[in-house]
Amino acid sequence: MKSLPKRPELEFLKKEARVLRVLQMKGDPACCDRIRDYDTSCEAMSDADILAGKFSINDAQRVIAHEYGYASWAALKKYIELINLPLYHMVTDRQGYHRTITDSYDARSKNYENSEWHREVALTTVKYWPPESGQLVLDIATGTGTIAFHCAELVGPRGKVVGVDISTGMLDKCREKLAERKLANLAFTHADGEQLDFQPNSFDRIYCANAIFWMSNLQAALRHWYELLKPGGVVGFNATPSSSFFWGCAARKALATVGIDFICNIPAGDEANAREMLECAGFTNFRLHAAPNGRYIATEDAKDPPFLTLQAYAPGQYPHPLEDVSDETMQLAQQAYNAEVDKHATEDGVWHDMTQYYVYGQKPADRE
Ligand SMILES: C[S@@+](CC[C@H](N)C(=O)[O-])C[C@H]1O[C@@H](n2cnc3c(N)ncnc32)[C@H](O)[C@@H]1O
Repeated sequence: MKSLPKRPELEFLKKEARVLRVLQMKGDPACCDRIRDYDTSCEAMSDADILAGKFSINDAQRVIAHEYGYASWAALKKYIELINLPLYHMVTDRQGYHRTITDSYDARSKNYENSEWHREVALTTVKYWPPESGQLVLDIATGTGTIAFHCAELVGPRGKVVGVDISTGMLDKCREKLAERKLANLAFTHADGEQLDFQPNSFDRIYCANAIFWMSNLQAALRHWYELLKPGGVVGFNATPSSSFFWGCAARKALATVGIDFICNIPAGDEANAREMLECAGFTNFRLHAAPNGRYIATEDAKDPPFLTLQAYAPGQYPHPLEDVSDETMQLAQQAYNAEVDKHATEDGVWHDMTQYYVYGQKPADRE
């Protein structure tokens, strides 16, 4: 299967289809295996028969889509439309964005392991579609390696697990733990999960827990992971529905009233979104396990909005959406935020939904 360019354009792919069609029309045998590979009904045909047959531009586009691992030209076109949505291009300075992430997680690495919540979510991400003995696993944004260590046990000595992260603080913790546990089938690498150097078709499982929201172009990242998976391989991640986490959700609505996009939890967000993104990346066998969860928070606590400050996380966005926003606009946003809290206030407080979705897709197995 061919790898798509990082920012593919439809024109580029249309041109590939035109070139293929011209090869067929000119009688160039170089195109015959490509056509046979797509259309199994041509398998027994000679080169001469293929070159003499009808081959429209639509046929050529179908071959190109197939070469990139898509079931149809329409599916490939849809991926290109999605990947170019403004939603996935809100990080305009990648280095600066990563610096904010690593500053934060380098500091958090000291006590990150105290978070039972993150551990539970990470292990659950593996639980619903675990690796088998002997398999190769990639843990993207491994943090302190919860998934990586767990999978190293599951795949056993014949398997192998690699954990990648951009935070050296988090990776130092992984290496400390590895020195104690001495697992020969586990390694950690400093790398950006959106731009990995592994060969295509390398892994049986790719997991990404508690970190999908950090990807600057989630649609492109899913496609990248698809290419790194072997045929039949599985990607699994947890996604926070857009209605989850009251503070972030209310901040998003309040900021929208003053014309500021705060995309927190939107890209992976809801079931339809997650399915569409996975299918557009080429995955099939979509699975989603919803884990409803939540608690009431005191209305006063809800009114203290952690996301309406420049210091707060703004996953998927850089520069920070609140940079250069006037005090006047911030006051209006604050008022809208308070109104949002009042709208949801009950005798018990405000419902803080913490539902998680565990989402999976499978790369189709090769044709026999
Ligand atoms: C909340 S932690 C999750 C860690 C671990 N997966 C877990 O569930 O415990 C988020 C991690 O994502 C990492 N991260 C964020 N963006 C990344 C990227 N583009 N590539 C690799 N790691 C990234 C951070 O450095 C941090 O360690």
